[in-house]
Amino acid sequence: MFTIDNYTPTRVIFGAGRLQELARMELPGKKALICVTEDGLMEKLGILQRVLELLKQNHTEAVVFDKVQPNPTKDGVDAAVALAKKEGCDFVMGIGGGSSIDTAKAAAVMLVNEGDLWDYAYTGTGGKKEIKEAAPVVTVTTTAGTGTETDPYCVITRTDTSEKLDFAVDAIFPKISVIDPELMLTLPTTLTLYQGFDALFHLAECYITNNHENRLVDIYSEDGIRAVTKWLPVAAEDGTNLEARVNMSYAANILGGYTQSLINCTSHHITGQTIGGLFPKIAHGATLILIAKEYYKRVCRYFPELFDEMGGFMGLEPDSQKPGYGFIEALSKLLAETGMDKLSMSEFGIRREDCARIADMTVNNTGIADMDRYPEQLTAADIQEILEKSYK
Ligand SMILES: [Fe+2]
Repeated sequence: MFTIDNYTPTRVIFGAGRLQELARMELPGKKALICVTEDGLMEKLGILQRVLELLKQNHTEAVVFDKVQPNPTKDGVDAAVALAKKEGCDFVMGIGGGSSIDTAKAAAVMLVNEGDLWDYAYTGTGGKKEIKEAAPVVTVTTTAGTGTETDPYCVITRTDTSEKLDFAVDAIFPKISVIDPELMLTLPTTLTLYQGFDALFHLAECYITNNHENRLVDIYSEDGIRAVTKWLPVAAEDGTNLEARVNMSYAANILGGYTQSLINCTSHHITGQTIGGLFPKIAHGATLILIAKEYYKRVCRYFPELFDEMGGFMGLEPDSQKPGYGFIEALSKLLAETGMDKLSMSEFGIRREDCARIADMTVNNTGIADMDRYPEQLTAADIQEILEKSYK
């Protein structure tokens, strides 16, 4: 028997070439605050100018906030909100990847709520205040990774405490997400891989957490894992392959967003986010890749059949001598095929002695207990062991 819970209210406009429809769709406001990253990439690629022109055709005003950092910060959100208030914006747009979109979501919360952003973070030093409403959010996605376009999360870093915390509430589901894989054709290979593995882990972690409860999660995860296995190496090899970009975008932005809307990821993500909070220059996907194999070796004992099923989606027959290792073997193969097995903590400036601090913060600040549904909770010692075994 199975159950279904579903709430995925974002209007999704998905498909190659569909950015154009921004000129005539009904938008949820009259004046947009547009969030883009400080590196000027959206302008260099001409995407920002195209969006501004399409909004003009749609008789919608816009103001650009172009100071979003790679791991978006609370300070960045505060600055975006100040600009939106000064300019009288009534909705927020995120153009780009997770950083811009998550900044837009957090800014949308603070545009209509009192106090400080951190009052509303629900883990760590956050005040855990309830978010009842937010200004409307519209996204234009240019990456295939986070799933934030179609889910109710945003992740923001507070630099003074090195915390990278989640805000999760139905009010920040985007009202509209335009997901046009043509915008992804110029993504560099390394980013394509970081984001593609991030998507794979969303799908796999939700499959584990779900444990066959909600049938939709199973369907979304399976199709997504199959798509990433087939198309990520193709997209990495030839970024201009539109079929590969369409399939990766479908897996990451649609299926990955939906699975995360319906159920939580595991402490793999909590550990990765903690690394990202302490070492903000490391891309989110890379933090997950660094620890993936050892993490799954540690936890596959709890649900070996789920791990062998996921290995099957990735084309590997289960080995009865090593129950649960199907996913780990298939993941190892995909990491090697894409060169991502070479990533090392040391190249990103993490020292072996940092492992204990990361483990402590993972369990005591980021909030592992809220996430995992394993029969026993991972301890700081478990996380430290995963980190140390991963270290090179
Ligand atoms: Fe992620």
